Amino acid sequence: MNEKFDITLNINGRDYPIRVEARKTLVDAIRDDCGQTGTHIGCEHGICGTCTVIVDEEAVRSCLMFAVQAQGKKIRTVEGLANGDELHPLQRAFIENHGSVPLHWLSEHHQGGAGGPR
Ligand code: FES
Repeated sequence: MNEKFDITLNINGRDYPIRVEARKTLVDAIRDDCGQTGTHIGCEHGICGTCTVIVDEEAVRSCLMFAVQAQGKKIRTVEGLANGDELHPLQRAFIENHGSVPLHWLSEHHQGGAGGPR
């Protein structure tokens, strides 16, 4: 039951070879195993959207996805939005709003306005 799997997560263009249990969520792997702590954990039930990341160009709630499911996919977190030293509008919004960005903003800017984060 506690068998571990060797996988590689590609986050913001960088590969992270990690060993995880099948039940480990993507958000926990991103934070704990890959050290990318910009993605946060809120409700852990798929309600709040705090853990939203982009996986193969689709917004997903990383608390509802297992890390092993993200093997071979391209993951983009808030850290990957900057253009060099220039902050992305989303990163500026996080700073200006103390880490709270309305979900409709994410929907409009990362899914072409169609639906909310998943
Ligand atoms: S932590 Fe709330 S939706 Fe993932």
